Amino acid sequence: MKDLASAFTAANARVFAKLGLDPKHADVRRSDRPDLGEFQANGALAVAKAAGKKPQEVAQSVAAEWSATELSPAPSIAGPGFLNFKVTADALTRRAQFVADDAHAGASLVEHKRRVVVDYGGPNVAKGMHVGHLRASIIGESVKRIYRFRGDEVWGDAHFGDWGFQMGLVITALEDELGGFDDEAKLDARLKALTLDQLEAIYPAYAKRVKEGDINVRDRARKATAALQGGSELHRTIWKAMHDVSMAAQKRDFASLGVDFDLWLGESDADPLIPGMVEDLGKKGLLEDDQGARILRVAGPGETRKKKRDDGTVVEVESPDPLLVVSSEGSAMYGTTDLATIVQRMRDQKPDLILYCVDQRQADHFEQVYRAAAKAGYAQRDQLEHIGFGTMNGPDGTPFKTRAGGVLKLQDLIGQAEEKARHRLKENEIGADFSKEEFEDVAHKVAIAAIKFADLSNFRGTSYIFDLDRFMSFEGKTGPYLLYQAVRIKSILRKAEEMGLTPSPPLRGRGQGEGGRSDAQAPERLNAPHPPTPAPQGGGGVIAIEHESERALALALDAFDGALRTAYDKKSPHFLAEHAFNLAQAFSGFYTNCPILPSEGAVRASRLALAAATLKQLTLTLDLLGIEVPERM
Ligand code: ARG
Repeated sequence: MKDLASAFTAANARVFAKLGLDPKHADVRRSDRPDLGEFQANGALAVAKAAGKKPQEVAQSVAAEWSATELSPAPSIAGPGFLNFKVTADALTRRAQFVADDAHAGASLVEHKRRVVVDYGGPNVAKGMHVGHLRASIIGESVKRIYRFRGDEVWGDAHFGDWGFQMGLVITALEDELGGFDDEAKLDARLKALTLDQLEAIYPAYAKRVKEGDINVRDRARKATAALQGGSELHRTIWKAMHDVSMAAQKRDFASLGVDFDLWLGESDADPLIPGMVEDLGKKGLLEDDQGARILRVAGPGETRKKKRDDGTVVEVESPDPLLVVSSEGSAMYGTTDLATIVQRMRDQKPDLILYCVDQRQADHFEQVYRAAAKAGYAQRDQLEHIGFGTMNGPDGTPFKTRAGGVLKLQDLIGQAEEKARHRLKENEIGADFSKEEFEDVAHKVAIAAIKFADLSNFRGTSYIFDLDRFMSFEGKTGPYLLYQAVRIKSILRKAEEMGLTPSPPLRGRGQGEGGRSDAQAPERLNAPHPPTPAPQGGGGVIAIEHESERALALALDAFDGALRTAYDKKSPHFLAEHAFNLAQAFSGFYTNCPILPSEGAVRASRLALAAATLKQLTLTLDLLGIEVPERM
């Protein structure tokens, strides 16, 4: 069954066609003026122009043709020719019942399934995982879930930064520490004792030295990188030890964040493909020599930008910059591994689409790689898409740092959030009777919900300020508020069971079985004059939408599919975050104005079924955002 906006649009298109108006202007959507109507159509204005008529006249003829349908009585006309619709109680009832019964809570699936790789997370070995990778993980995890839920075949890939210069740098640091690698036993013992904390201390110290102009360290690190990539056994052994230590820690970090990958691959996994690929690029005549390095030009004719040179003069250079494929030291670069990873994915997953959920500041890098891939024939340009996002900022508006000015580690961030969650739970007198384990579990879930929802409630391109106090509030548009609402519904439903109320079919998850997803249950005989449908009884549903707050809740439940489709199309989970909040608000209004347990008979059964449908859809929406709801709090 389609959502109401789609059903309205289809019906309106039929009216338009009948009147000889272009149905492509028949779009009907939720109204932004709820005082005038629940749905609105503005197309009369556009078609009137083409038909050489007054918009008012067109609107009137459309309204007359609509007359009363199962969906809505004839629309009212506002302003120059806007059509405003109010949904019939029957149509709302049917839709709410469908959502209640449907295993997908009213969501539609994609028409054409695709194979999709989502590249996200992307932490670096040795550098540790910090808040910079937080957004990539949160947004990517949600995008992966949304795509999978709508029916695509999806692989999430962590694409660890485990190759390249940073690895050479740490190897160099280790060499200095041990005074060379000649003593095999000494090296062996050192590698066995290696911890992530050490790696995370070694890397920045040496990165700083290079940054401050230590050419000796830089050149040795470059040589070490080339040796590693060239297959030196010694370098591989050291690399593997660093890799394993880092990987174990990162798996733990991701697990506590509720992020999981199907492919735990890294840049290093694409390395075996690089020599063949470079040879292939050469054969295709795509590589050029540039002061000993090999580059691949990706700018088209006339694509330039102005660039300021060191001496202050401004020159016109090609844009995007060429992709650096092989450095003058013979190393593969960041873009080279990304290009080889495309070859690898096309071979292994055969995706129709690869989504890269990576900081917006890497947009140029991806443009270079995608163009190179298209030029080489490894993928089509429109199979590759960068899902960029803004930064998480500190109060000063620059990317978030610790007080000491360093990057905050993910584990520390989660720890801070948990501490605040414990505090807030106690403040709100929640969990005094919980066991220690349950209390800790709830605090963890509240902390993760706070962090994730704060992130996902912004359009991904928007940067936001990290403000744990605000994120952790139980009121307003926050993760904890949504958890609280979901848990409240759980407790109502539990109480109903305790009261011995025969749970209505939707409570028992009827949607999974035979009684579920049947579009035949709700024939859409739009525009056909018909006798009013009797309220569903017996074999039909139990939901009956009557009260104004029930209407609002049914409309919110109906909006899930639209929000999901937009989140999918725009690759921005924030449309679902918005939906979760709207749904929780609508439930809140319903709960205040429509007593559930104190009511009786069919009304109580209907309201319980509505509550159960809300819980199902809210839980599902939160799950698509990567947020888990505790049993109670
Ligand atoms: N490791 C990279 C970084 O920390 C992010 C990797 C993003 N994914 C990719 N395919 N390049 O900046």
